[in-house]
Amino acid sequence: MKATISDVKNHVGSEVTIGVWLANKRSSGKIQFLELRDGTGYIQGVILKNEVSEETWLNAKELTQESSLYITGTVREDRRAPSGFELTVTSLKTIQIAHDYPITPKEHGVEFLMDHRHLWLRSSRQHAILKIRDEIIKATYDFFYDHGFTKVDPPILTGSSAEGTTDLFHTKYFERDAYLSQSGQLYMEAAAMALGKVYSFGPAFRAEKSKTRRHLIEFWMIEPEMAFCTHEESLEIQERYVTYLVQRILQKCQAELQTIGRDTTKLEKIKAPFPRISYDQAIDFLKQEGFTDIEWGDDFGSPHETAIAEHFDVPVFVTEYPAKVKAFYMKPDPDREEVVLCADLLAPEGYGEIIGGSQRIDDLELMKKRYEQYHLNDPSYKWYLELRQYGSVPHSGFGLGLERAVAWICGLDHIRETIPFPRLLNRIYP
Ligand code: 4AD
Ligand code: MG
Repeated sequence: MKATISDVKNHVGSEVTIGVWLANKRSSGKIQFLELRDGTGYIQGVILKNEVSEETWLNAKELTQESSLYITGTVREDRRAPSGFELTVTSLKTIQIAHDYPITPKEHGVEFLMDHRHLWLRSSRQHAILKIRDEIIKATYDFFYDHGFTKVDPPILTGSSAEGTTDLFHTKYFERDAYLSQSGQLYMEAAAMALGKVYSFGPAFRAEKSKTRRHLIEFWMIEPEMAFCTHEESLEIQERYVTYLVQRILQKCQAELQTIGRDTTKLEKIKAPFPRISYDQAIDFLKQEGFTDIEWGDDFGSPHETAIAEHFDVPVFVTEYPAKVKAFYMKPDPDREEVVLCADLLAPEGYGEIIGGSQRIDDLELMKKRYEQYHLNDPSYKWYLELRQYGSVPHSGFGLGLERAVAWICGLDHIRETIPFPRLLNRIYP
């Protein structure tokens, strides 16, 4: 019977055939141990010389790392095996012998691994990270579905920019100019006025000349937007969502967390509500910590975010930033118009910003003023202004960077391992 490694538990004592790759092999005299993988898991195949045909024995001897084959054997329970099961091989059919697979069990440099990303994905570590990424995506869909949100897909090719014009990817749209989306937010605001609570999950492109452990050129973002929702109510949704993601991974991905060596005690502490500090308090704190050059009105860089977040074991909201370091659409604090009703959520352990969000300007006259200040009086932004003209309501939203969340939850040193094929400042291969 055809099976996968993940469902051998249903076939104990029976003979199954599984399509596999050889991850590793050991042999001693009359016995060969094949470490096999099929994408759903790992299992050890045991071949006893005296119990198989000579042809099977010799075919097994020829197998090299990453050779592909169909393996047939009897499933046995084995408490000592990592998967809990073992395969007593009866026969095998080689599909292809892989010659000189470049990624061997020895250590390789990062650039070498990145050049071989298409193969590196097969390693148990990368497999585990991609499984966790998938579970975060699934948990996102579940969370927003359960909270009454509708998923809406904003366009990727746009004529307007949400997050400023400095890092836009330009392309031609027939005779006209267009940009790859930096954020779906402006469109999600329109969608929230139609559907109330909405969210998107899609790619975002930023031509950022930053070469850091946190920046990708192409990344995936989850962007909820809520009508009749204040900044404070949005923060509550954010902390519940992030708590839910972490709890789901702890619940469903213990094996994967173990494979990548994640210290799960750190994740177990993640529970809403999260602490909040204002931008003003953060500036004072940074000055005390020895950041003498930072002044009120400066934006925070990675070292600042890390210093702030290091003081907490759970994510922390930094709220009410100066309007001038944030986007044009953020609503000013009614009591203090130089700051806006916004927050960045900084993850602990040095991971920095995972969410950026705010309440949006809903007043037509103020938005017109912002259009003047930010030079947005261009036909491509006309529709966004109209949202403030016909039944404008208080509304808020936020964006969570999927890869930043994966990096933090998995405890990875660099964002490059969080996405199958990372686009980095100097890399678009493979
Ligand atoms: O803070 P950002 O730029 O906010 C927005 O785009 C808003 N329009 C979101 C909204 O309110 N709907 O980006 C949101 C998040 C960041 O907190 C970060 O997690 C992630 O997107 N992000 C990146 N992730 C990887 N590489 C980059 N270059 C990123 N830039 C932002
Ligand atoms: Mg931000």
